[in-house]
Amino acid sequence: MIKRWLKDKIQEYYPDSEFDVLTPPDDKMGDYSVNLAFVLAKKNGTSPAEEGEELAAGLSKDKDLADVFEKIEAVKPGFVNFFLKKEFLQKQLVKIYKKRDSFGKSKIGNGKTVIVEYSSPNIAKPMHIGHLRSTIIGDALANVYEALGYKVIRWNYIGDWGTQFGNLIAAYKLWGNKDDLKNSPFTTLFNLYVRFHNELKNNPDLESRGREEFKKLENDDKENLKLWERIKDLSLKELGILVYPSIGVDVKRLHFKGESDYQNKLKLLIDNLAKNNIAKESEGALIIDLEKYGLPPALLRKSDGTTLYFTRDLASLEDRIQNYHANKILYVVANQQTLHFEQLFAVAKDLKIDGAELVHVKFGMVLGEDGKKLATREGKVVPLQDVVNKIQEKAYGIVKHVKFANKDISEDEAQNIARAVGIGALKYNDLKQHPYSDIVFDWDAMLDFSGNSGPYLQYTYARLANILEKVENQKEGNAALLVEPEEEKVMKRLLEFPEAIEKCVELNTLNGLALYLYELSNDANRFYESVRVLDDDNIERRDTRLTLIQAVATVLKRGLNLLGIEALERI
Ligand code: ARG
Repeated sequence: MIKRWLKDKIQEYYPDSEFDVLTPPDDKMGDYSVNLAFVLAKKNGTSPAEEGEELAAGLSKDKDLADVFEKIEAVKPGFVNFFLKKEFLQKQLVKIYKKRDSFGKSKIGNGKTVIVEYSSPNIAKPMHIGHLRSTIIGDALANVYEALGYKVIRWNYIGDWGTQFGNLIAAYKLWGNKDDLKNSPFTTLFNLYVRFHNELKNNPDLESRGREEFKKLENDDKENLKLWERIKDLSLKELGILVYPSIGVDVKRLHFKGESDYQNKLKLLIDNLAKNNIAKESEGALIIDLEKYGLPPALLRKSDGTTLYFTRDLASLEDRIQNYHANKILYVVANQQTLHFEQLFAVAKDLKIDGAELVHVKFGMVLGEDGKKLATREGKVVPLQDVVNKIQEKAYGIVKHVKFANKDISEDEAQNIARAVGIGALKYNDLKQHPYSDIVFDWDAMLDFSGNSGPYLQYTYARLANILEKVENQKEGNAALLVEPEEEKVMKRLLEFPEAIEKCVELNTLNGLALYLYELSNDANRFYESVRVLDDDNIERRDTRLTLIQAVATVLKRGLNLLGIEALERI
């Protein structure tokens, strides 16, 4: 907030210069620092130190700046440092406190629609840990866009079409039966999936069988369509009843529109592309040449006449722009699919379906503590539910036997805390890192209540909530009483909340917000440990400090909620 304001303010004097407003590593160097003198020195052939002196002297005369900063000072080799006024901070705190439930929200997105596509599992297979990352990152990004006033469509592009369904139908016809499917649908589907892939090793013919069944499905074979519908139905139920609730994702807010929904649009799409010479035949298949983009050709139709993942994505992209009027589409999908999206975006450009900004929000793999890709003992991808169960079990152990070892706490509450803390640990561990990087699952670190972890932030919140709960009839206090350096630090940090949110949208990442909340927690804990609050004899000062705590607690809770993490009042 202040950073942006300061930059705009300086830019009024130097409209054509590019420079940054930085946060100095040490408080002694001020609250903000500007590198403009280096830019000016280069332009004017002078020294940064000279320019810095001149700048500081000039800006010190500005009345608006003088209201906010008590000192503007040049230091060698040429930085200009800005020191906030205490009174200014105190005034800001009162404002933040008053509008704490909406502080950081804005309207910059009003009138714009963004589609955040995330999760998007293939429903003929169990949902795995890659989809967990997509779900966590996408859900949080959607929250952040919403906070800035965008209309957000949370799109779940279910993988409900394609050869994998042929495989499942083949497996069902070979080994499945109605009763099993009816009585224990999820296990039955899972077992069929596993058996098909196990038997494939000794019986390669199965593959063509799967393909045959898919072809029949694409040609509207009645029996296969019925089976497909049943499988889809059951899988969606599992997602809605078990999977999404277990990771705190509100399934009602998801817009399910998957690959199969484009099936009947593909023929027209393909015919048009062929007619306009955009697509061409190559060895019996239909492709779009992308050589001018330095990319391999995109495959629209295989030689056996079946369509592909790419074809359906193209149809869906058109739909999203034309019928949903998206201004921006984010695809939160693992970086293994980078080429696919480069091709998709290139074709969109060729076809002039370019009414929206298209972004592939990629993310890396999940690694185990040994630094290798996380896998089951048999070397397979880890099912999402296993991860969720494991973190919750561990969280339960800590909550029950460490944190509440000597307290009587109901079983229900222990379970509830373990659930929230487990999911919080999982989400924060993901979001605190830059999405492109591979993330490591270090279970103990994720659950370390005193480390840079979700549980630490949740614990800090609960601690603040606990303090606030103890006082009744608290008055607003008098912000002029907040003069300790630890208090100033917290007030300054609070000011940065809106910027932390805006950065998420600018970069389509969440690690900045996660780091912000971590630092806010550190500042708040340090403040609380350095001054008296509840046992202060000066009631006015006590109330003022409680005001500060209330502002921090609200911002912390709202920040955690943006990341999809629950803030419990008691941990
Ligand atoms: N269903 C795909 C998978 O699990 C991800 C879909 C990504 N989104 C898209 N529009 N292609 O790998």
